Amino acid sequence: MQNSARYPSLHGQGVFITGGATGIGAALVRAFNEQGARVTFADLNLEAGSALVEELGGAPRFAHIDLTDTSALQQAISDADSASTLAVLINNAANDMRHRPDETSPQAWRECMAINLDAAFFAAQACAPILARRGGGSIINLSSINALLGPSNMPGYVSAKAGLIGMTKALAKDYGDLFVRVNAILPGWVVTERQLQTWLTPEEESRWMEQVALPKRLMPEDVARLALFLAASDADMITGQSFTIDGGRT
Ligand SMILES: NC(=O)c1ccc[n+]([C@@H]2O[C@H](COP(=O)([O-])OP(=O)(O)OC[C@H]3O[C@@H](n4cnc5c(N)ncnc54)[C@H](O)[C@@H]3O)[C@@H](O)[C@H]2O)c1
Repeated sequence: MQNSARYPSLHGQGVFITGGATGIGAALVRAFNEQGARVTFADLNLEAGSALVEELGGAPRFAHIDLTDTSALQQAISDADSASTLAVLINNAANDMRHRPDETSPQAWRECMAINLDAAFFAAQACAPILARRGGGSIINLSSINALLGPSNMPGYVSAKAGLIGMTKALAKDYGDLFVRVNAILPGWVVTERQLQTWLTPEEESRWMEQVALPKRLMPEDVARLALFLAASDADMITGQSFTIDGGRT
């Protein structure tokens, strides 16, 4: 990653990243790998996950699991810790499904929470004692500025992302005595391949550029740079906080 700081405290550290096969998650995998961290990422997408492992010369470990399967998630975290003692957890996976409130079934709502909120909690629950054993560590939750703006047709995603901000505060207190730090990142519209293919039309992008202070694309690598800092010992006294990275949109 160009123009990135080096964080010696991350070198050799075990890092577990959810949803690391594509988008921001893949940028996180690349960024931590480049710092010499020992990365495990978990994702449903076999093809993209395998391609990323190959791109990085086989360096990261890839757990091909559904994160809503809590036993599989717990097992993947335990395996990752056995391979390289975990110091960092990044709860990045999400599904930004669109749905109208009046058309949302109880099952669809639960499925939305399962990936966007529950998986982050159970990953943190599984990692906290592991991080505590080595004297502390860092948990980073990927929320969104949508938790603040509340756009229409995604009430489940918005609720889950707002929940992650609350969970970040709560777990920072619960795990503070263990020196496990918990922080959240709230990105604005990040230009991933999927966003380009699905939602980010030229019209939407020019509307976004009118709303931000910095009229420049926000890239996955920008988010990864913030995550590196929050994971490193440089951020040792920062916990329970939410950091917005949105080019000044909010
Ligand atoms: N891209 C943006 O503009 C943006 C803006 C604000 C916040 N965020 C947040 O940043 C994070 C990453 O965003 P992104 O755009 O890269 O997401 P994305 O949808 O492009 O990628 C998410 C990854 O999670 C994986 N995943 C989804 N459900 C899974 C499951 N059940 N089990 C295992 N893996 C699963 C997907 O396969 C994918 O690789 C998310 O938490 C998202 O909410 C993104």
